[in-house]
Amino acid sequence: MKLKNINAFIFDAYGTLFDVNSAAESCKNKIGSKWEMFSIFWRTTQLEYTWLRTLMRSHRDFWKITEDSLDHSMKVFNIELGLRNELLELYKKLKSYKEVKKTLEILKSTNKKLAILSNGTPDLLNELVRINDLDNVFDDLFSIEEIKIYKPDPRVYEIPLKKYNYKPENICFFSSNAWDVAGAGIFGYQSIWVNRLNKNYDKFSYKPSFVFKSLNEILELI
Ligand code: LAC
Repeated sequence: MKLKNINAFIFDAYGTLFDVNSAAESCKNKIGSKWEMFSIFWRTTQLEYTWLRTLMRSHRDFWKITEDSLDHSMKVFNIELGLRNELLELYKKLKSYKEVKKTLEILKSTNKKLAILSNGTPDLLNELVRINDLDNVFDDLFSIEEIKIYKPDPRVYEIPLKKYNYKPENICFFSSNAWDVAGAGIFGYQSIWVNRLNKNYDKFSYKPSFVFKSLNEILELI
């Protein structure tokens, strides 16, 4: 089966292109064996804060939420406070997964639009793209800061359509977050789950047509 009628490839950022655990992993000698549980807790708390703040209509940008969730997680895991700034600096420089650059470059050569659609602020996204040497592949970096509402609210998935004159089904969207895949799919995108961590798909009313282990599997479908 091949993908049909796609005009744009749009990617989630955190966890899909960039490894959210790479910040805590770089400090694993200082944090000790709990680094991975701590990193997962930090990420989960960060996402909970996005959902809760959208529901409470009390927006803070993704960087402030990253700081707030780190502060809470450091307390819960009893992490030495001296690591706070180091972890935050590392979070601004998360590494991309190893197949990302090559895959994006090949997709770019198909002359479709390539973009990011993320909770991250424009500054954070620009920096991640720059330090991972991906400046030349993306046409647009779409941020929810434009509307100050977090994923998976349907208004987020409308953002690229304000600029691109395409229908939702002409967009192929990738995320490693199952709830983001479902949000985008329910909105109408052809949504692909990049199941990097070998998880079970949640019980949502959208089932992705494709489930990948890593992003380069898209190259077999184009
Ligand atoms: C993002 C989060 C959801 O990049 O991973 O939007």
